[in-house]
Amino acid sequence: MSAVSAVPAPPRMQCRDVTVRFGGVVAVNSVSLSIPPASIVGLVGPNGAGKSTLFSVLSGLARPNAGEVEFDGTDVTGTSAQHRARLGLARTFQHPEVFSGLTVREHITLAHRISTRRSRIWSDMVTARGFRRAGQEEVERVDSLLEGLRLSRVAAQPVAALSLGMTRLVEIARALAANPTVLLLDEPSSGLDAQETAQVVEVFRLAVERRGVSLLLVEHDMSMVLGLCDYVHVLDFGVKIASGTPDEIRADPAVRAAYLGEEQAPEQGEVTS
Ligand SMILES: Nc1ncnc2c1ncn2[C@@H]1O[C@H](COP(=O)(O)OP(=O)(O)OP(=O)(O)O)[C@@H](O)[C@H]1O
Ligand SMILES: [Mg+2]
Repeated sequence: MSAVSAVPAPPRMQCRDVTVRFGGVVAVNSVSLSIPPASIVGLVGPNGAGKSTLFSVLSGLARPNAGEVEFDGTDVTGTSAQHRARLGLARTFQHPEVFSGLTVREHITLAHRISTRRSRIWSDMVTARGFRRAGQEEVERVDSLLEGLRLSRVAAQPVAALSLGMTRLVEIARALAANPTVLLLDEPSSGLDAQETAQVVEVFRLAVERRGVSLLLVEHDMSMVLGLCDYVHVLDFGVKIASGTPDEIRADPAVRAAYLGEEQAPEQGEVTS
């Protein structure tokens, strides 16, 4: 930390000493991290390190055996995922979770309506005649998300007809349509080609810059993590083994040994994937 006297902004979200056990496996072992406003925080580590488990605790789908989760300064440890979504939390899943019968546009419109609470969401979903007519602001927001993720040309298609990569883009667009203040992204580039990954990176940057969204990014693509994140945490066997700026993470010997693999570790300042 520098000696500058400015008081840092309180985190949007944080967890303290979170532990999750599955039988004899300690999937997450006393992990603390915080997500400042309008920032991108990376969470990396080898397979089985506990990243998705920590996401489940943060999003409210799993209860920790120990530790606390705070959202905007309020303890939400015992609250549901729905409650946290109402507070402004959204997430995407490692394996996309979508309603395969809805079209791409319907997915994004529905998420937008949930966030703006302007309609009876569930009747919208179950009405055979389809959706209530959209207002102008809604159309503009949904169109801009469709364009940003290059989904306009498939907007009328059911999600079931899409490739894995496109389905993931729909899931990301849907999460952003909910106008979250914090968005948890579990391997968003998995299944995407290089062009789709570049689009996603651009959309994340814009969400942070223009809307002040905070992102927590789980990602195996280290060049994406080190290029995009303001701060990175590294998990290994459930334990946080390092935290720092991308430059600090590149140089950290524990990370080079445990995660990057010493023989493949990049030279300082060099970014590899
Ligand atoms: N529901 C569960 N029941 C039992 N063990 C689980 C469960 N979920 C995860 N685990 C175990 O907890 C540990 C952490 O798993 P987790 O899925 O959180 O890792 P991850 O870092 O997301 O890995 P990956 O990079 O492969 O997605 C692993 O040992 C895993 O086998
Ligand atoms: Mg995972």
